[in-house]
Amino acid sequence: MGAEKTLISLKNISFTYNKGLPTECAALFNVDIDINSGEIISLIGHTGSGKSTLVQLLNSQQAPGAGEISWLIDGVCDERGAAIRRRVCAAVGLVFQYPEDQIFEETVYDDIAFGPRQLGKTPEETEKLVFKMSELMGLDKEILYKSPFELSGGTLRKVAIAGVLAMEPRVLVLDEPMAGLDPKSCDNFARLLKGLRECLDLSIVMVSHNLEYAAALSDKIYCMASGRIVLCGTPREVFGEIKKLDEYQIGALPSALIAAELSAAGLKFTQTPLTADELAAEIFKNYGK
Ligand SMILES: Nc1ncnc2c1ncn2[C@@H]1O[C@H](COP(=O)(O)OP(=O)(O)O)[C@@H](O)[C@H]1O
Ligand SMILES: [Mg+2]
Repeated sequence: MGAEKTLISLKNISFTYNKGLPTECAALFNVDIDINSGEIISLIGHTGSGKSTLVQLLNSQQAPGAGEISWLIDGVCDERGAAIRRRVCAAVGLVFQYPEDQIFEETVYDDIAFGPRQLGKTPEETEKLVFKMSELMGLDKEILYKSPFELSGGTLRKVAIAGVLAMEPRVLVLDEPMAGLDPKSCDNFARLLKGLRECLDLSIVMVSHNLEYAAALSDKIYCMASGRIVLCGTPREVFGEIKKLDEYQIGALPSALIAAELSAAGLKFTQTPLTADELAAEIFKNYGK
């Protein structure tokens, strides 16, 4: 992996839905975020805090009402006007919260091939990308010729991600990728995301309700409340802020919460434990094994 470089920079971004209409709804206020190369970033926050709106701005599905977004990605930064949006859609791949919303072709193959074809790839290049990305996502070759609508929800999600990856993005943006998956599928999915970052040199931005996975996977976590970034840092910095997380209705990591209670009772902790194993290690440090 190369040296860290900013790929997307958001400065003082605000966004309002239906501006000037009776249904006007301000969704983002003064948001500053940098997405750097090779990073996994999680966005966490209560429902309605602005996470989905923010990820749509990253991929230029929506334009900010105020502030500035810069995409410092090869092939995007030299473009002007409408061409920027086309380039951004490919360079910043967005997987919607409900993958069935972005699947519409008759076969899985055609669905994954849709993006590369739009980008003007030859049939041979397209086939290579379809095979590579479906294999990375752990999809069997046989299913490529099935209708996407015969597939289970988890597999459909993998097809949607393979379709986005086939456009060879630098940043992969996932809105609630683990929603509705059972714990084993979540574990597999977490491993898959880490593998994708390594194989494809991707940055990943993930909206997540699952604090354990956000802690385990992320280099940086941004917490949102009422359209603002209210807390950001490494998982250990963020999950140590038990009071603030409670105030913003985000909840706490169980291990960090237990550590906070034990610490209030006089036990010494050298760091906020993010897992049960780390919590046990901290307790043993105090009491010996
Ligand atoms: N298409 C839309 N039209 C109008 N308001 C919307 C729309 N989508 C979201 N909102 C509003 O914007 C705010 C942020 O929503 P959203 O970004 O979906 O939050 P989250 O993903 O964190 O649940 C909420 O108040 C929501 O009601
Ligand atoms: Mg959402």
